[in-house]
Amino acid sequence: MPVLTIATQPFNDQKPGTSGLRKRVTTFQQAHYLENFVQAIFNSITIPANATLVLGGDGRFYNREAIQTILKMAAANGFARVLVGQNGILSTPACSCVIRKYQALGGIVLSASHNPGGADGDFGIKYNQANGGPASETVTDAIYAISKTLTHYQTVAAPDIALEVLGDYAMGEMVVTVIDGVADYADLMESLFDFGAIRALFASGFRMQFDAMHAVTGPYAREIFIRRLGASAASVMNAVPLPDFGGGHPDPNLTYAHDLVAIMYGDNAPDFGAASDGDGDRNMILGKHFFVNPSDSLALIAANATLAPGYKAGIAGIARSMPTSAAADRVAAALGIPCFETPTGWKFFGNLMDAGKVTLCGEESFGTSSSHVREKDGLWAVLFWLNILAARQQSVEAIVMDHWAKFGRNVYSRHDYEGLPNDAANGVMTLLKASFASLVGKQFGKYTVALCDDFSYTDPIDGSVSTGQGLRILFTDGSRIVFRLSGTGTEGATLRIYLEAFDADIRRHGLDAQVLLAELIAIAAQLTELRSRTGRIAPTVIT
Ligand code: G1P
Ligand code: ZN
Repeated sequence: MPVLTIATQPFNDQKPGTSGLRKRVTTFQQAHYLENFVQAIFNSITIPANATLVLGGDGRFYNREAIQTILKMAAANGFARVLVGQNGILSTPACSCVIRKYQALGGIVLSASHNPGGADGDFGIKYNQANGGPASETVTDAIYAISKTLTHYQTVAAPDIALEVLGDYAMGEMVVTVIDGVADYADLMESLFDFGAIRALFASGFRMQFDAMHAVTGPYAREIFIRRLGASAASVMNAVPLPDFGGGHPDPNLTYAHDLVAIMYGDNAPDFGAASDGDGDRNMILGKHFFVNPSDSLALIAANATLAPGYKAGIAGIARSMPTSAAADRVAAALGIPCFETPTGWKFFGNLMDAGKVTLCGEESFGTSSSHVREKDGLWAVLFWLNILAARQQSVEAIVMDHWAKFGRNVYSRHDYEGLPNDAANGVMTLLKASFASLVGKQFGKYTVALCDDFSYTDPIDGSVSTGQGLRILFTDGSRIVFRLSGTGTEGATLRIYLEAFDADIRRHGLDAQVLLAELIAIAAQLTELRSRTGRIAPTVIT
């Protein structure tokens, strides 16, 4: 099959963000836009003669078209085989699992994660390396550099592949294998958790509500919770993946997963609630009338890790992103294991996991996972909680309260201001940075500023340095406020304000985080001139 070389013009806006390249669907639909980025990926790597590529996406609008385009380009660029999810669908953690299981050279994940989908929504693409994790910054920088000078891409003139039916298909010299990613992923989960104990928990009348948000995890949740673990059919809601996620915003937080939140805070609420996002890597954990902050969830999983068979021997270390609360640090200290603080984005955990330095990783943004894959993993976190609940036979709330009584509570919240004009958001960051020199030593109510900086990170494994990773104001009592601009949005700017204070007093552990953090929230507003600069009186999303 002859390789076609197509002339193209470079685009200057293909810089990958926190997690790959994310743009409006309409941007990706421009002639050559997707092709250019895919060619830039292929040009940035060496493709050996026997190379396998894994390919799948979260099923959002434009997934199918993009898959067919990429298959043809993979054939033209010399791949021997592509493993593609049935119907072109693979959750992000399943993609990572499949890359590792079949020792692929890498994978292409088509997803804009929790961003809305549909013809007017977002689309995204990222490259994962042989370890199953997102490409490092060195690679994404190289992809961006190539995208700015690209003059042609390669493809073949082949018919589309029938992605509905499992099996092998020839495309020129290349083989396309349509795989059942659900089975591979579910088998991996079964090897890590005590499915017998969780099955017994469900059989005893324990009730769960899982919200797949009409996104990718529906089929995975059905296979694992209903078929393998015996949960009731009604325990998985919004289980049919839709290209526009049913018009919703597939982000499992208290604002966007409102249907689930209403059930879990309603009368006769189930014992346990959980949700996952567009591509299945995020998780939200709820108890009856109770929300588990993701930072606490990481700490709690770490403290209870040995209850799960896959982690019986203990964990080597923990890594968390900088804005994530230090709750996990306290557990690590108690266990006598290291805890690493990395920039935001899962790509920074890969080296630490590959080097065996950490087993568990987490981000405050509803991301938790372990070295079983190299992505965050929504259903893994839900299963870990189910395993803990089955072993401890206590409620979610009781387990969290116990944890705080033992370790103290890192009171934590994140306030997001979405859709700000870029100028306003950049103005806030510039103002803050300029104020840093005069802030140290200043007192605000009961808080005194100890240190201000723009977080930078030196990777302990490869020595690479990442700067400009978030503005931090650290107070003398260990409290802190962090400010970042989102690197995943496609429209305007999103300002994230992360607030954290430590409270060892058990009498206050039942209080709402917003109440306990009120003073820090006011300080953040004052230092950023938030109201006058953004015109906003309240955040879009509070976590
Ligand atoms: C957000 C989260 C970050 C996460 C990323 C991808 O990035 O804050 O923790 O890794 O989505 O899911 P941000 O928009 O803040 O750059
Ligand atoms: Zn996601």
